[in-house]
Amino acid sequence: MSKNLNVQMSKNLTVQKSKNLRTMNSFGFDVRALYFAAPRTSEEAKMAASEAKELNCPVLALGGGSNVLFTRDYQGLVLHPCIDGIVVMDEDEECCRIAVGAGVVWDNLVAYTVERGLGGLENLSLIPGSTGAAPVQNIGAYGAEAKDAVDSVEGFYLDDLSDFTLDKESCRFAYRDSIFKRELKGKILITRVVFRLSKRPAYSLSYGNLDEEIRKYGEPNLDRIRRAVIEIRRRKLPDPAELGNAGSFFKNPTVDAVKANELRAMYPDMPIFPSAEGRMKLAAGKLIEICGFKGARHGNVGVHEHQALVLVNRGGGTPAELLELSDKIRKAVHDKFGVDIEPEVNVI
Ligand code: EPU
Repeated sequence: MSKNLNVQMSKNLTVQKSKNLRTMNSFGFDVRALYFAAPRTSEEAKMAASEAKELNCPVLALGGGSNVLFTRDYQGLVLHPCIDGIVVMDEDEECCRIAVGAGVVWDNLVAYTVERGLGGLENLSLIPGSTGAAPVQNIGAYGAEAKDAVDSVEGFYLDDLSDFTLDKESCRFAYRDSIFKRELKGKILITRVVFRLSKRPAYSLSYGNLDEEIRKYGEPNLDRIRRAVIEIRRRKLPDPAELGNAGSFFKNPTVDAVKANELRAMYPDMPIFPSAEGRMKLAAGKLIEICGFKGARHGNVGVHEHQALVLVNRGGGTPAELLELSDKIRKAVHDKFGVDIEPEVNVI
């Protein structure tokens, strides 16, 4: 990059230089972006992306920052879409389709749908982050995934600024995975997500003790499911506003049936669930716990006391410490069980 980006791109869009991202990554790490812009429309986002391209400046799309680990300062332009708005596109007796700006806070969207009796997102209550980030890792919790309700995803390509709309199938959603984490990684910016929600929802209550938790409030309905999910999450998961974290740091791994039986014989209380293509899913949290890391400290970072899948910044921690801890955990799990666990967070 030989020249600098324009600081005032338009009347409404300014670019900040050397922006501290401490409040923009839920680990709360002290990292900086060379440039930072928060466009409020797709046009503003394209303007910034276009200038960055001219200067050969790399661009990173950053939503709520609740699923990223910055390992160092970012030497490019961080684009933080603040595109707002929830618009009803069409509806009939069964369904309602809504288009949601990428910058809408995910849990505000869930609250909006629950208040209007629209089912599909209630089990995903209280997940931190923005709506635009939800399809990227196909966020999931308590038996539901974003893909169950996504109709299409809209945005533009960063290289030629052309628009795209991908229907659900083209998004190639899988467990904590999508085309946006693979072929399109670093190539696009999501501006809007369209959801298809149900006016006659079938509730998904079979995960863990969710059903039991809901019945404390009465017969299941959307609002009670939301309340129960919030209650369980608050009990188990640390609030990033109080303790820096990015939710589950690792994905739950899958193994073949032979390996699953071997582990079951050695650890009879090990949670093992059927997964796609005849494979079995293990609870990474349990593996990490057996390795003795639950509640562990490593310098100023550590493992959460109630959920071993969650790594935390206890205050003043650094990305390097977190990476060291993550490597230690992966090695311990590999050595003890012969199972590899992969990070779920986006390491930048
Ligand atoms: N478990 C342990 N020890 C632990 C953690 C979990 O033994 O330290 C056991 C639990 O007792 C349970 C099983 O593992 O039998 C599953 O635990 P939990 O219900 O807490 O779910 P998880 O598999 O650890 C996943 C998601 C979470 C999501 C919950 C609930 C992944 C990587 N994580 O965690 O998502 O909230 O299920 O649906 O799939 C996130 O993605 O950031 C996230 C928090």
